[in-house]
Order: sequence, then C-alpha cells, then structure tokens
Amino acid sequence: MKIDILTLFPEMFENIFSSSIIKRAQEEQKVVINTINFRDYSKDPHHKVDDTPYGGGDGMVLTCQPIFDCVEALKTEKSKVILLTPDGTKYEQKLAYNLSEEEHLIIICGHYEGFDERIRTLADLELSIGDYVLTGGEYASLVIVDSIVRLIPGVIKESSHQNESFNENLLDYPNYTKPREFRGMEVPEVLVSGDHKKIAEYRKNESIKKTQLRRPDMTLKRSDGYEL
Ligand code: ADE
Repeated sequence: MKIDILTLFPEMFENIFSSSIIKRAQEEQKVVINTINFRDYSKDPHHKVDDTPYGGGDGMVLTCQPIFDCVEALKTEKSKVILLTPDGTKYEQKLAYNLSEEEHLIIICGHYEGFDERIRTLADLELSIGDYVLTGGEYASLVIVDSIVRLIPGVIKESSHQNESFNENLLDYPNYTKPREFRGMEVPEVLVSGDHKKIAEYRKNESIKKTQLRRPDMTLKRSDGYEL
C-alpha cells in the first residue's frame, strides 16, 4: 500500500513514522508513506496557500490551486482521496479494515480556519476522527494511518486482531499478567484454571458486560442478531 499525506507541516510526522510498528512496516515494504508539502505546488510568487474568505470573517482559508494541482499530480485510477475535516463521516474500525485493502490513499490535511469548499470535490471520502475541532488534519491523519497500517496483512500477528475492541461490535475483555495478586487485587480464578472453554466463556461474557455498561450504542449495531 502507498499513502501520500498532503500537509503544510511534514515535520509533524517524522518522529511518529520513524518509530515502532509503522517504522517496521515501512522497512518491510508493507507500506510506503510520503508526506508532501502542498505549498510546493503553489503558483503564487510567494508560495501562498491561503487567502481571506469571500463574504468576510476571521482567519484564512486554504485555496484550491495548490491542493488541486498536488492531488492531480499524485492521483491514478487506483487512488482513494480522503479529506480530513470535523464535518466528515465519523471514522470507525470497520472503515479502517476497508481502507487497509486499498492500494493507494491520498490524505488531505486541512489547516487554519478551513478550506475552500470546492476542495471537497476532490475527495472520495470526507472523514472526521471525532466530534471535536483540532488545529489541523495532521493529528487526524496520524490516527487514521496508524489504525490502517496495523491491519495490513503481515504487519502484526493476525491473531492479535481477533479479540480486539470493536470486532463484532464488542469491546475487548480484561487482560491480566503476573503477579497473580497485586496490592490485594486478585487475577480471576477462571484464568488460572487451565479450562480453555470456561476461559473463552468468561472472556465473551466480560466483553458483553463491558460493552453494555460503557458503550450501549454499540449494542444497537450488531448485525448477527446476537442478543446482548
Ligand atoms: N480537522 C480538524 N478537526 C478534525 C477532526 N475532528 N477530524 C478530522 N479532521 C479534523
């Protein structure tokens, strides 16, 4: 997979993309990630990328030309263009799975007060990572890229995905490790019983209980008719 990120702040990505699992995924050529400064595509003599809003108001608005030219230079028929904006569709794990199967993602990070509305016509998908306003799409793109790259086959062990939160619309079950007792808090007896059937039942029930308590909204989404 190839991911091109259009940003005015490529340096914001350097540490994160050269650390941990994302670093390894690039080294193993599971993914190629490029950050592209769309200021380089500006035809303005001073490389301007924003201007005052028509109709008045505070702040500056990103202009069409640099972003259109940059996307058009990168795009092929296999590309999916994603625009990050707080008014986009809410990003969820299911979409992370779908996007991890794409060949080429182009991610546009908005900044400042906003972007010219016509930039939306470039996007196949407009995404928000939650109901809050960030200073820029860079933070959102880091979240989205991380959640996609870990799902690319071979990046982490497939079995690690099986029980994680949001699969089957259930939150993850609780995990414990050594020691068996810490400051008076005991590991549940069933987990040291060696009875794998009972352990699986316990974990499923704990997942269900946690989901009902913390995320009743998720229980509405189950498509298999499984009763919670
Ligand atoms: N840009 C600013 N806020 C954002 C959000 N919540 N999601 C995606 N992009 C954004």
